[in-house]
Amino acid sequence: MRWLEEQRDPNHPYICTIERVVDETPTVRTLYFHDPVLANVLPGQFAMVWIPGVNELPMSVMISENNEKSGFTVRKRGESSTALYNLQVGQQIGVRGPYGNSFDIKDGKILLIGGGTGLVPLIRLIKFSKATNKITLLMGSQTKEEVFFEDMVKNSWLCNDLNCIPVTEDGSYGEKGYVTDVLEKLLEENTYDAIYTCGPELMMYKTVKLANEKGIFVQASLERMMKCGVGICGSCCVSQDLVCRDGTVFDGQYLAKNSEFGHLQRTKSGILEKI
Ligand SMILES: Cc1cc2nc3c(=O)[nH]c(=O)nc-3n(C[C@H](O)[C@H](O)[C@H](O)COP(=O)(O)OP(=O)(O)OC[C@H]3O[C@@H](n4cnc5c(N)ncnc54)[C@H](O)[C@@H]3O)c2cc1C
Ligand code: FES
Repeated sequence: MRWLEEQRDPNHPYICTIERVVDETPTVRTLYFHDPVLANVLPGQFAMVWIPGVNELPMSVMISENNEKSGFTVRKRGESSTALYNLQVGQQIGVRGPYGNSFDIKDGKILLIGGGTGLVPLIRLIKFSKATNKITLLMGSQTKEEVFFEDMVKNSWLCNDLNCIPVTEDGSYGEKGYVTDVLEKLLEENTYDAIYTCGPELMMYKTVKLANEKGIFVQASLERMMKCGVGICGSCCVSQDLVCRDGTVFDGQYLAKNSEFGHLQRTKSGILEKI
């Protein structure tokens, strides 16, 4: 095992076989495979996933109860993510990485705000949290049907002091509204030592703004179009920063000065478009 970790070149695809597939919602699945290196990445780090004959995509790395198994939780969207979603037990993928930096986990009371597959790095953050952390997790989705990971985070093997609050936009489960509405209420009544967020950019933008206004340390894990994953192609830029090389995790105070965060992103052909 140690030999494997020492010898492996992160920039060379490592071939893995899908061992288990879990349906999380009608459009989200987690694919588990044996990979002791990815299994132990830091919260916020990602991998480039090669789907043979289709494409290579950036993916956050999902935790597993088994320390040598790793996973990708994928939502089917376009051609490439749907091809990954449709892979069956026994089929193979290639993984490069891990890449990127990670969340700086503070002591004390921490608040996590995630939406959709943006929950993946936050679940890993919970796994890496300190014994002294008291954690509140806001899980945002549009409807009850799209809520996932709730049973897992309520499971005590992740963290002893964890309060999980599902929030649905239509009110079909948990709190009603946007996660940022619930965040605003929580910030009126409580104080936190740090806030961490990953998910839709407008959700992260509002979270960062609210936390900055309250003077609370906040970090966001950003997504941008990624092709190389290693700082060469420039497709993942957000103003002067490259998300794959300088992120994916950025401090809220720093993001407040970035004119593209929350406003502009690049398409596959590099054209700037409104978020
Ligand atoms: C660091 C990082 C971690 C991610 N983790 C996850 C995850 O855990 N689970 C998950 O389902 N998705 C994750 N994504 C997003 C995922 O890579 C894209 O949504 C997916 O590639 C969609 O691709 P598509 O070709 O099927 O969709 P398309 O229909 O072709 O594109 C839909 C949208 O997906 C995004 N996208 C497409 N290609 C890329 C690309 N190469 N890089 C980044 N974004 C792209 C764009 O916003 C695009 O508008 C992550 C992205 C990044 C950057
Ligand atoms: S994906 Fe190529 S520079 Fe970031």
